[in-house]
Amino acid sequence: MRQKIVAGNWKMNKNLDEAKELIKGIKKEVKAGIEKGTRVMIAPSFVNLQSAVKKTQKSIIEVAAQNMHQSKNGAFTGEVSADMLINLGVNIVILGHSERREYFGETDALLAQKVDAALGNGLEVVFCFGELLEDRKSENHFKVVENQLKKALFHLQKGSFANIILAYEPVWAIGTGETASPEQAQEMHAFVRELFAKEYGKDTADTISILYGGSVKPANAKEIFSKPDVDGGLIGGAALKAEDFAAIIKSI
Ligand code: PGA
Repeated sequence: MRQKIVAGNWKMNKNLDEAKELIKGIKKEVKAGIEKGTRVMIAPSFVNLQSAVKKTQKSIIEVAAQNMHQSKNGAFTGEVSADMLINLGVNIVILGHSERREYFGETDALLAQKVDAALGNGLEVVFCFGELLEDRKSENHFKVVENQLKKALFHLQKGSFANIILAYEPVWAIGTGETASPEQAQEMHAFVRELFAKEYGKDTADTISILYGGSVKPANAKEIFSKPDVDGGLIGGAALKAEDFAAIIKSI
């Protein structure tokens, strides 16, 4: 089902004490019913997931992981499996974030495996994709996005998309303070929806949620969210302050 979603990607920020504080703040803010009809997610680091699940139990806040390994288990020092997440009570995982692609060498082929492992274990996936600045400058952004989605997702059966949320994150707008204009976001989201319509049919295209990510702030959220094909946001920097995150949730 197409949903309104605001997800906070905390990246490598907040130790346990700080994470608890932030959750407390967000809980206070979302209490007033501002979350009506909107799914609110937070993605703390692995070490803080267990505490986050506990602290959000009686709230509408859902907890997501920022990554996971594609294998069931085994000799993969430092990695975390889908089963470990599920067993903790984490039901969502972000995959394909540009920082994973850029700094940890994650390819579309690897992401296809991660997506399979996540879905196979019953996790919901927030799948990130987006072009680099040079792709946009050379007007290759649609082609790049199409390739990312085809290689990582288009091997899936239609039914799998009930458990996938898409997040368009142009790399040039992540953490840079530079946001895609609402028109640029809308243009890409519409393009992606059309791709899904061609590949999987209009019903899949019309029901998949597509978030925008990249320097979303309280000041620009409303305009971005007002676009017809933008279903919400994946928020980095502004998700680290309860008031800002809440203001963004209120903008949807
Ligand atoms: P940003 O990050 O909001 O700090 O640009 C977004 C993201 O990386 O998900």
